[in-house]
Amino acid sequence: MGEQVVRMRRLRKTPWIREILSENRLYASDLIYPLFVIEGESVSQKVASMPGVERYSIDLLVSKAREAANLGIQAIALFPVVDPALKCAEGKEALNAQNLACRAIKAIKENVPEIGVIADVALDPYTSHGHDGLVEDGHILNDETVVSLSEQAVLLANAGADIVAPSDMMDGRVRAIRKALDCSSNQNVSILSYAAKFASAYYGPFRDAVGSSGALKGDKKTYQMNPANAVEAMREIALDIDEGADFIMIKPGLPYLDIISASKQRFDVPVFAYHVSGEYTMLKLAEEHGVLDYDRCLIECLFGFKRAGCSGIITYGALDAARLLGN
Ligand code: PBG
Repeated sequence: MGEQVVRMRRLRKTPWIREILSENRLYASDLIYPLFVIEGESVSQKVASMPGVERYSIDLLVSKAREAANLGIQAIALFPVVDPALKCAEGKEALNAQNLACRAIKAIKENVPEIGVIADVALDPYTSHGHDGLVEDGHILNDETVVSLSEQAVLLANAGADIVAPSDMMDGRVRAIRKALDCSSNQNVSILSYAAKFASAYYGPFRDAVGSSGALKGDKKTYQMNPANAVEAMREIALDIDEGADFIMIKPGLPYLDIISASKQRFDVPVFAYHVSGEYTMLKLAEEHGVLDYDRCLIECLFGFKRAGCSGIITYGALDAARLLGN
């Protein structure tokens, strides 16, 4: 053992050498902060299933966006919590130019103009059955849904969204949305497609947060992907790029790092990951039970996304991480 030439531990000997040799670095600008918006004024509601996450009325939402911007976060992703009285089978409220999502986007663009706004395109916040599309005889209609989604995307863009993010997994929606945006003077609005979105149980806490879980009839397996499939994910991504997606998203995050890594190597578009509600909540609850250090685990997860090649990471821990990185 005495003549061992290579000693890897020399690379880790002191804090300064570890810092110099760090292959990846995290910045607040890597992070995108998801926010839930509700009606009312000066209202905030804790989300029971997501410790540390709240729903905010538009005025408080603006303050949160300001806080995020001040911490160096460059973009937020917005999710409306729609009054059940406004939900119907067709999700008509999605096509109301004065709906909560549109008003929230306008308010943020007026008050925090420097932060990017990503608006989710899907019908599930608005449908009484909780599906992302229109339903007929228990089937999710594809092409009819795509017509609604294109209209929804235009309204969100008109309200000021910088990026629209179709999270519905209907076929052909990226091409249709691109066309609709281009025909409505929204050529500069980008599309972040949820290109490979898996039918995941990790979305559970999110569905509680937006109030769609109680409503959801059945599951989303005829449009969201089978967690067993990676080759199919590459086809989904290739199609969305071909249809005009500016960036692609993989969702959930940690269980699908192989998909992120493979797509990064295979395609030349920026890749985003969604570190989803269930992934965040696991860390929070483990900390509440005294078995994990949330701060350190969060940063470790975020490095996983960076190693895999992500350009952006959507995480409910964005503010926490930005604060930690600032220290
Ligand atoms: C719905 C949508 C979902 C999420 C983002 N957009 C849930 C779903 O597909 O049922 C999940 C996000 C999360 O879990 O944090 N279009």
